[in-house]
This record gives sequence, C-alpha cells and structure tokens, in this order.
Amino acid sequence: MSSVRLQDRTIWITGASTGIGKTLAERLITLGNRLIITSRKAESLKPLKDLAPDRVHILAADISRPASVDQMRNELTSIFDSIDTVILNAGTCEYVDTRQFDSELFDRVIQVNFIGLARCIEASLDLLRASSKAPHIVGISSAAAITGLPRAEAYGGSKAAVESCLESLALDLDKYGIAVSIIYPGFVDTPLTRKNDFPMPFLMSTESAVGKMISGIESRKFRVAFPARLIWSLKLMSMLPDTLRHKLGLSMVKDNP
Ligand SMILES: NC(=O)c1ccc[n+]([C@@H]2O[C@H](COP(=O)([O-])OP(=O)(O)OC[C@H]3O[C@@H](n4cnc5c(N)ncnc54)[C@H](OP(=O)(O)O)[C@@H]3O)[C@@H](O)[C@H]2O)c1
Repeated sequence: MSSVRLQDRTIWITGASTGIGKTLAERLITLGNRLIITSRKAESLKPLKDLAPDRVHILAADISRPASVDQMRNELTSIFDSIDTVILNAGTCEYVDTRQFDSELFDRVIQVNFIGLARCIEASLDLLRASSKAPHIVGISSAAAITGLPRAEAYGGSKAAVESCLESLALDLDKYGIAVSIIYPGFVDTPLTRKNDFPMPFLMSTESAVGKMISGIESRKFRVAFPARLIWSLKLMSMLPDTLRHKLGLSMVKDNP
C-alpha cells in the first residue's frame, strides 16, 4: 500500500503517559492529528492535553480490568464516530526469578500486554471499520519476541503472543481494508527500562525510536523493527542450531540459578 501521512487523523494511543507513548503522542499532536490518549491516571495525561486542548481527548482506563475497559469503550463510542489509527502501546515488564517462580507475575504481565491489547482492539474495531481514512492498527511487540532471552519468560511470551495475534489479525481484517503493523523496539530509554540491571546494547532515546515508528507507520510497513544492529543480532541468534543458540543465551544469564 502507498504511504499515508500521520496528519489530520483521529488516533488513539494507549500508554501515552510516559516513555515511548508520551513522545509519540507529542509528535502526533505536533503533526496536526486529533488524539485520544489512554493510561491509568488522567492527571498524568494532562500535560499532553495542555499541548492542544481542542485536539486531545483524555480517556483514562486500566486495560487489565474488563470493567474499566467497558467504561472506556462506552465513552469512546459516545464521543467518536470513527477512529483512523489505533496504537496499542500500553505495556508492562516484569522479569522472572526462577528461585521464586511466580505464575501471578505471568498473569499481571499478560493481562496488560496481551489481554489488555485484545480488549482495546475489541473496544475500537467498530470505530476503525467506520473510518474512511485507511484505518490502521499498530501494536507494540518487542525485540524480546524474536528469541528466548534470560528472565523474559513472561515478558517475551506476552510480546510473542502480541506478534502472533497481529499476524493473524492482519489476515482477518484485510477484507475490511484495515491495515495492521507490528513494532519491535529494541532497548529504548524509558521508565520501563530504567529498572533494568543488565547491559542494554544499542539503547535508543524515545525521540529516535519514535522517528522510526512514525516513518514505519506512514509507509504502512507490516513489521517495523529497530535498531537494525540489535534486531539482526537477535534474528541471527534465533536461526542458530539449538545447541549454539543455547550456549550464546547462557552467556547472557546473570545470577539467576
Ligand atoms: N522501552 C523499551 O526498551 C521497550 C522495548 C520493547 C518494547 N517496548 C514496549 O513499548 C511499550 C511502551 O513502553 P515504554 O518503554 O514506553 O514503557 P513506560 O514508559 O513504562 O510506559 C508504559 C505505558 O503503559 C501504560 N500502562 C501500563 N499499564 C497499564 C494499564 N494496566 N492500563 C493502561 N495503561 C497502562 C503506562 O501508564 P500508567 O502507568 O500511567 O498507567 C505508560 O503510559 C510497551 O508495550 C513496552 O513493552 C518497550
């Protein structure tokens, strides 16, 4: 498909209060779009609303809670006739410690990263179908979905689920003219990664990451992955014979017996 400028569109972005989502929302406002912005607390979205009060609508919700998403869906459908782009960016990360293996951790991560994403698709699909401006669903997976990495059992699993879901969705929504894209960021400097206690190769700023995301979304690429050096390293690792891939993976394991 030919490219579609991110300008004069109605765009819903989840996880807009901090990190990648916040920088992306700022850029999309500057480019002249109408934005619906979501995260759990309305106060944390206020600085974005102040940038363009007439073009920014705050829609606070906890996407891990069905009742909260139902309320959000009612508000969405009562205010908007259509949405042109949905950017499913809200996410969380918790790392597994096999000394205290905790399935509740998996539940917390999957409820936001995967089930929460599905809830937001459910809430917006009719509005996307009503768009006459080349509707587009953009979901944020992760470079961590490319191959199994230490302590990423829950986070990597949730992002691999996002990838698989969106690959299928792209097939099923094609007949409605709704495009789907998957974004695979590497390490981006945000509150989410500032908690990491391991080296983060090729760490990027949110500004650089958002630049790549905007050009990928505008050119309607199905997969947008960056930075190239990290993505290709992980892809090569995933293609190695299992014994070699395992050895390389073990070299990344820290004090996690
Ligand atoms: N940073 C990276 O290196 C990196 C790499 C690969 C993929 N990603 C993905 O990129 C996305 C953005 O990450 P980030 O690094 O920008 O993280 P971040 O700064 O922690 O931002 C996460 C956003 O998600 C929102 N959120 C979290 N739980 C939510 C919930 N239950 N309901 C509604 N909103 C919720 C947060 O808002 P509140 O807490 O205010 O509700 C916040 O706005 C995530 O999906 C992440 O997995 C990030």
